[in-house]
Amino acid sequence: MTPLGSRLDSSSRFALDQHLPADFAEQALRADVLAGLSATPKTLPPKWFYDARGSELFTAITRLPEYYPTRAEAAILAREAAEIATETSADTVVELGSGSSEKTHLLLDALRDAGTLARYVAVDVSESALVEAAAVLLEDYPELVVHSVVADFEQQLHLLPADGQRRLFVFLGGTIGNFAPAGRRAFLAAVRACMRAGDHLLLGTDLVKSPAVLVPAYDDAAGVTAEFNKNVLRVINRELKADFDLDRFAHVAVWSGEHEWIEMRLRSLGEQQVRIPTLNLDLTFREGEEMRTEISAKFRRPGVTAELDGAGLELRRWWTDGEGRFGLSLAQSAG
Ligand code: SAH
Ligand code: TRP
Repeated sequence: MTPLGSRLDSSSRFALDQHLPADFAEQALRADVLAGLSATPKTLPPKWFYDARGSELFTAITRLPEYYPTRAEAAILAREAAEIATETSADTVVELGSGSSEKTHLLLDALRDAGTLARYVAVDVSESALVEAAAVLLEDYPELVVHSVVADFEQQLHLLPADGQRRLFVFLGGTIGNFAPAGRRAFLAAVRACMRAGDHLLLGTDLVKSPAVLVPAYDDAAGVTAEFNKNVLRVINRELKADFDLDRFAHVAVWSGEHEWIEMRLRSLGEQQVRIPTLNLDLTFREGEEMRTEISAKFRRPGVTAELDGAGLELRRWWTDGEGRFGLSLAQSAG
């Protein structure tokens, strides 16, 4: 049966489920912004980076010379995709936070060549990214069924389609590092709860390395990451009619050796007032005051193994790129 709110094209090779309510951006954003900006220090919630413009800016980030994670992960996938196909015999790839699905082509190619691939389920909050990615995939893989799901992977994993005998769940890009540690645990446990016998999880994690490499990846010379970071202010201005002046905030990326994560912040250039009328919120920013917008945690192999283990997942394979910058794990349910 076709789920409510799903659109199926005439060839039945494409379906799109919309699980975010029409007012999701407004309602959930209101709650997140109210909580974050009433706190001390102020924070802003990260999932709001990815409107259509944010998704485009992220794709631009992946092409920056300083932003190595995408290339490092792609290099591992290119080298190991055939092995992953053999290990998993997956008929279904379920990708969480799929974005442009560019790297996924390496996996889909290998599974198609192995003769097992039947369908690809892409899950993202960004409908525009999903629709653009699906158009490319439908053309590149004439046999593939593409099922795009607009959903919040922190809340709605139980709504994913259950099709497939051997599913490969995929979470790439080091996006797991964007959760706080508690959120990471909850997320991995929720993924584990979706998995059935024979399913696998392929998890990409960026690795701890010198801040001299890490910081520029999050503070590039061309200023694309700065634009991306400030895009969250643009979203709040549009959705909540706020009056953030983007030119009066500076992008800051800081390495925390204690937490082993990069912190993205927005620093107020001078003292200023910001009004968010729809929340009845009047804010004062001190000169130099910083709001945290995102973390990007970096990992070491023992930590990844332990976190998977804590969620009832057993590490089966571990690969890194030739320079040891990025880790890719293949895991299976322990029980
Ligand atoms: N997997 C891609 C994109 C990574 S960027 C890559 O490796 O390059 C993170 C992606 O996750 C974006 O496409 C963003 O829209 C999506 N995303 C972020 N928070 C999300 C959430 N809560 N639920 C679903 N998707 C989310
Ligand atoms: N998952 C990406 C990462 O942690 C997201 C990202 C890249 C990001 N650059 C960013 C998030 C800048 C916020 C700001 O690498």
